[in-house]
Amino acid sequence: MLEKLKNLETAAAEEIFKITDLASLEQMRIKYLGRKGLLSQILKTISSLPKEEKPKIGKVANDCKVKIERLWKERFDQFKETLDQEKDKTLDLTLPGFPIFVGHKHPITQVLEETYQIFAGLGFEIADGPEIEEDFFNFEALNIPKDHPARDMHDTFYITEEILLRTHTSPVQIRTMKSHPPPIRIIAPGKVYRRDADITHTPMFHQVEGLLVDTETSFSDLKGILTVFVHQMFDPETKLRFRPSFFPFTEPSAEVDISCVLCHGTGCRLCSDTGWIEILGAGMVHPKVFESVEYDPQKNIGLAFGMGIERIALLKYGIGDIRLFFENDLRFLSQF
Ligand code: DAH
Repeated sequence: MLEKLKNLETAAAEEIFKITDLASLEQMRIKYLGRKGLLSQILKTISSLPKEEKPKIGKVANDCKVKIERLWKERFDQFKETLDQEKDKTLDLTLPGFPIFVGHKHPITQVLEETYQIFAGLGFEIADGPEIEEDFFNFEALNIPKDHPARDMHDTFYITEEILLRTHTSPVQIRTMKSHPPPIRIIAPGKVYRRDADITHTPMFHQVEGLLVDTETSFSDLKGILTVFVHQMFDPETKLRFRPSFFPFTEPSAEVDISCVLCHGTGCRLCSDTGWIEILGAGMVHPKVFESVEYDPQKNIGLAFGMGIERIALLKYGIGDIRLFFENDLRFLSQF
């Protein structure tokens, strides 16, 4: 028995050092140390030995097991080390990495931020108001009473008779004046809602409202401010035209056209051969509006304007369909 164990140990040691791959090493482990392996077979016969010999043989058998296991482990570690080294060799740190997709701001956000920049340069601060608005702020205080025909233009989403989704950013004028004394110099950007949908209208779109109130200001200031805005947002050569118009909350009122961004005024399909494109509404604050916020119409003069941001973006980037801004098609968005 002792001899058998000694031979097993020698055979295992010789075999181990001839092994050149991990798979054979595993087979060798099963052959010698496995449950039905050579060592187990010898150990099974121990029970049939005379009682006095059992402990001695048992100890030798155990030593033999420990030695084979140690040899096996050493060989295994050697393999592992070479494997790790090979792996290092195949890791080429100079290879280019996988491309990372970097997103960017939505074109509407870009135009909004450019608008803030321009007006910040003219001393305007940003004001805010709710999208779910009261009839009073959206209409009544802006000199648009319940029976006023101007209400038809707004295609309002009503929530209740008195609560609605704001149809324009002009109610922020009222909220700002109600909570702040003059002078005021704000722009109010935000989402507005109208029941309207086609290639130039979406039920939600963005506007930027402007309001300046002081003891001395005039229509020429309005012209100057809007000219600076247009020249910075578009080409500095762009011409402006102030066309008489009507808004209940301004008097006088104007619609502002710019020379066509496509044909520069000679006439094309975009401008319906007029050479001009309308971009915003503006005017001098109506005394009735001052009365509704308890500002003295004798002491205060105000100028106001409001523009649609999608419209500005369409013209700036030459886009034909406003709905593209809201479809989240990356082939479109990634162009900006
Ligand atoms: N609120 C108007 C609209 O949505 C736009 C507008 C026109 C705003 C004239 C103004 C203004 O502040 O003075 O059609």
